[in-house]
Amino acid sequence: MLELKNITRAYELGGEKAGAFGVSLSVPAGCLAVLAGPSGSGKTTLLQLVGLLDEPDEGEVFLEGEAVSRLPEKARCELRLRRLGFVFQSFNLVPVLSALENVMLPLQLQGIRDEDAKLRATEALDRVGLSDRLEHRPGQLSGGQQQRVAIARALAPKPVLVLADEPTASLDHAHGGPLMDLMVQQCRDSGVSFLVASHDPSVISRADLVFRLMDGKLVATESTKVTA
Ligand SMILES: Nc1ncnc2c1ncn2[C@@H]1O[C@H](COP(=O)(O)OP(=O)(O)OP(=O)(O)O)[C@@H](O)[C@H]1O
Ligand SMILES: [Mg+2]
Repeated sequence: MLELKNITRAYELGGEKAGAFGVSLSVPAGCLAVLAGPSGSGKTTLLQLVGLLDEPDEGEVFLEGEAVSRLPEKARCELRLRRLGFVFQSFNLVPVLSALENVMLPLQLQGIRDEDAKLRATEALDRVGLSDRLEHRPGQLSGGQQQRVAIARALAPKPVLVLADEPTASLDHAHGGPLMDLMVQQCRDSGVSFLVASHDPSVISRADLVFRLMDGKLVATESTKVTA
């Protein structure tokens, strides 16, 4: 479903090289994969490459078998909108919009009619257990609830892959675990895959696949569960 082949993206700052070096990995459909490693090990660098927000110096990213790293910006934009979902550490919800309106937003950007967008957004919020919070604005929701809205927003357009950078970092421990359980459930139910950058043990313990990074290199791959 997702494949990285020999990806290198080097940043040079003051003669020191950092980034990602020769990383190859693959994530099957319906799989929750984690990029784990200490600060500066290259997790966000890789997520930005997979999210088509940056181009590798060498190597290629394949999404559903298609080489996508060097597509023109318009095609990358289209892929981001239709095939990828994004979840951020700080939720990135629009504060003046309700939970429902936040989830409707990417659907409306795809040109889906308001009525259909509303239906699909309601379904997505239902799947994350927030059907009783549709009209709440982000400021009226807890951190865990806001992150569930962000997940509903990422999933509503039915992407094949959701990218999440430290999605539990703004949550206390009690909220991180249930949020991850929710992601695992989505993988099993809809076949979507997640690629999550995190050093949170509650994230890593729930992963199907863990890619361990160190100084921009992939040092170990652990398959922690047998996938059916
Ligand atoms: N735009 C940039 N310019 C120069 N160096 C960069 C840039 N972005 C990242 N780096 C360097 O690349 C390395 C990897 O950074 P990256 O953000 O991928 O780490 P990370 O694993 O996400 O860390 P953290 O857990 O702190 O988020 C770091 O040494 C960082 O300083
Ligand atoms: Mg990072």
